[in-house]
Amino acid sequence: MVIPVPVNALSLSKLCLAASVLALAACAPSSGDKAAEQADAAPMVAPVLLTPEARDAHSYAQPAIARVTHVSLDLTTDFRQRRMSGKAVLDVAAAPGAKEIVLDSKGLEISAVTDPAGKALQWALGKADPIHGAPLTVALDGAKQIVISYATGPDAAALQWLNPDQTAGKKQPFLFSQGQAILNRTWIPTQDSPGIRQSWDATITAPAALTVVMSAEMLTPKGEAGPDGTRRWRFRMDKPVAPYLIAIAIGDLAFKPISERTGVWAETATIDKSANEFVDLEKMVAAAEGLYGPYRWGRYDLLILPPSFPFGGMENPRLTFATPTVIAGDRSLVSLVAHELAHSWSGNLVTNATWDDFWLNEGFTVYFENRIMEALYGKDIAAMLADLGWSDMQGAIKDAGGLNAPDTRLHLDLAGRDPDAGMTDIAYEKGAVFLRTIEQAVGREAWDAYLRGYFDRHAFQPQTTAGFLADLRQNLLKGDKALEAKIGVEQWVYQPGIPANAVHITSPRFAAVDAQAAAFAGGGAASAIPAGGWTTQEKVRFLNSLPRKLASAQLADLDRTMGLSATGNSEVRFAWLMLAVANHHDAALPSLEQFLTTQGRRKFIAPLFKALMTEGAWGQPIARRIYARARPLYHSVTVGTVDDTVK
Ligand code: BES
Ligand code: ZN
Repeated sequence: MVIPVPVNALSLSKLCLAASVLALAACAPSSGDKAAEQADAAPMVAPVLLTPEARDAHSYAQPAIARVTHVSLDLTTDFRQRRMSGKAVLDVAAAPGAKEIVLDSKGLEISAVTDPAGKALQWALGKADPIHGAPLTVALDGAKQIVISYATGPDAAALQWLNPDQTAGKKQPFLFSQGQAILNRTWIPTQDSPGIRQSWDATITAPAALTVVMSAEMLTPKGEAGPDGTRRWRFRMDKPVAPYLIAIAIGDLAFKPISERTGVWAETATIDKSANEFVDLEKMVAAAEGLYGPYRWGRYDLLILPPSFPFGGMENPRLTFATPTVIAGDRSLVSLVAHELAHSWSGNLVTNATWDDFWLNEGFTVYFENRIMEALYGKDIAAMLADLGWSDMQGAIKDAGGLNAPDTRLHLDLAGRDPDAGMTDIAYEKGAVFLRTIEQAVGREAWDAYLRGYFDRHAFQPQTTAGFLADLRQNLLKGDKALEAKIGVEQWVYQPGIPANAVHITSPRFAAVDAQAAAFAGGGAASAIPAGGWTTQEKVRFLNSLPRKLASAQLADLDRTMGLSATGNSEVRFAWLMLAVANHHDAALPSLEQFLTTQGRRKFIAPLFKALMTEGAWGQPIARRIYARARPLYHSVTVGTVDDTVK
C-alpha cells in the first residue's frame, strides 16, 4: 500500500502546487524552464505551445515538464453503484531531469499509482478547487508509463447514469459521458487540457445485455464474453486528440448503416425513426470534404442519446453525440449534424489551444456548417439559418451586457471562471460573421483555398487566436495592409462589440415572414398566415418576431391554427413556449410542463426557466413546481445552470 506523500515532499513544482489556480500564471514556464521547453521540442515529444496566450488556466498540467501522450483505460462499469473503476495507464514524455508529472482530477478515488512493473510511485492530490478539481502529482522515478488504479466519485459531472425509465426503451439503464469543456477529469485521470493531445485506447467491461460505444475505432463489434454476466469491449483512437473528446455511451443500443462509412446508433426503441431522420449523412460528409478536404477520421457515425443529453450535439470523433430533440420527423433540424460534422475539421483536427480560444472551434464550425447546408440544400436555407444566427448574436450581446462588455470579444479571458461561461453565441455567431466578413473581403474562391490549407497546415494540432491571425497574415493577407485594415482583423478578435463592416446575410423569405408577423400582431387572423408552406426556420422567425404582448385570444387562435403546443418540432415548440411565457398564457402550461420534463437540453431548458422567473408572481411558482419535478431528470450541466436561476 502506498502512503500518499504530502505535496511538499515532492520536488519540482511544489510552489505552484501549493498555490491556488488563480496563481497558475505564476507557474507558467519562465526563463528557468527554457531547457525543459527545448527538450520538449525533441522529435519524441509532440510540440507544446508555451506562449503566455497558450497557457491553459483550466488545467494544472505543466506540459513543458512532463506530458501525457497516450491514455489506456481498463474500466468496469457498475450500474448499481453508479461507478466506473479500474486502471488508467498513461504514457509520459518527460523533459530531461523531470521528476514528476501533474495531472488533472476531480472527485476521483485513487487507490494506487505504480510503474508498469508494479513498483509504487509517490503521488499526492493537491487542494481541490470547485471549478478545476485537484492536481494529481506523481513522482516519475524514471518511469515512462504510470498506472493509476481508481474509481470515479459518486457525482462525476461528466457521467450521467440513467434509470431504465429515463430512456426511450424503459428496460435497460444507460450511461453516457460529456467531456467538454473540463469534465473528463471526473472520470479519467489525465492532463485535461485541449492543447495536450493524446492518443488512447480502452477496454470497457459492462453488463452483457448492454452495448458500449466510444469516440474511437471499435475493435470488438459484438463485445467479448467477460466474467459474471459481463461483456468486454475494446476501442482504439490512434490519432492524438484533445482529451475532452474521449467519450463513452452504454445502453440498449442498435445500429443502422447509412453508407459504407456512416451510420446511426440509437436506443433499439428509436433506431428506425433515428436512422430515417439522417438519411443524408453520407451526402453531408461528401459535401464537407468537397469544401475543406478529406474527412480524416475513418467512420462518421451519429449516436442519438436519451432525452436528458444536455446539449444539441457533441462532436466526439467518429461518433457525434446528439439529442433526440433533433428528430423533428421531417429532417428539418439536420443543420445540427452539419455542425457537429464540421467540427471534424474545426475543433477536432485544429483545436482551440485553451478555452479562451473557444471561438476558433465554434465560430469556424458555424461558418462551415452553413457552407455544408448551402451545398446540400441551397442558398435560401443557408441564408435563413445565417439570419437566425445574426439574431442569436444580437441576443448574446444583450445577455453579455451590451456592445462594450468584455465578454463580447472573440478572444476571451476565462481565467478563474468556469469555461462554460464562454459558451455563448459570441463565440458561435460573431465568430462566424467574422469569417463571412473575411470571405466577402477576399472573395469566396481565395477564402476557401485558404481555409482548406489552414486545416491541412494545422491538422492534429492546437491553435491559439494569435496563431490563427499569424497564419491568416502569412497565407491570405500576405502583407496587404490595406486589406487587413479593411477587414479590421485585430478589432474583430480583441475588441468588444460588432465592427461596422460585419456581413449580415439576410433572407428575403424572412422579409415576407416579418410582414406576416406584423399583420398578425396588428389584429390579423391566424388563418391568414401561410404557415403551411413554411420551413421550420420561417416558423421560428415568425414566432420570434411577434411582440411579447399579445391578447390571449390571439395566442389561442395561433396555437390552434399552427398546432404549436402539440408540435414535435423542438425548435418551433421552444419559440412558441417562450412567447407563451412572456404572455402569461396559461393555456400553454401543460405543453410547457411536458416539454420541460421530457428532455434536458440546456439550450431549451435554461431560457424557459429564466423567462418564468422574470414573470414574478405568475411565473416563479410555476418554475419552482416544475423544476422540483424535472431536476432529477437533468444532466449535471443543465442542473448547474438552472440551479442558479430557480431559487
Ligand atoms: N461542442 C459543442 C458543445 C459544447 C460546447 C459542449 C462547449 C460543452 C462545452 C457542440 O458542437 C455545439 O456547439 N452544440 C450546439 C449545437 C450546434 C448546432 C450549435 C448545442 O449543443 O446547442
Ligand atoms: Zn459546436
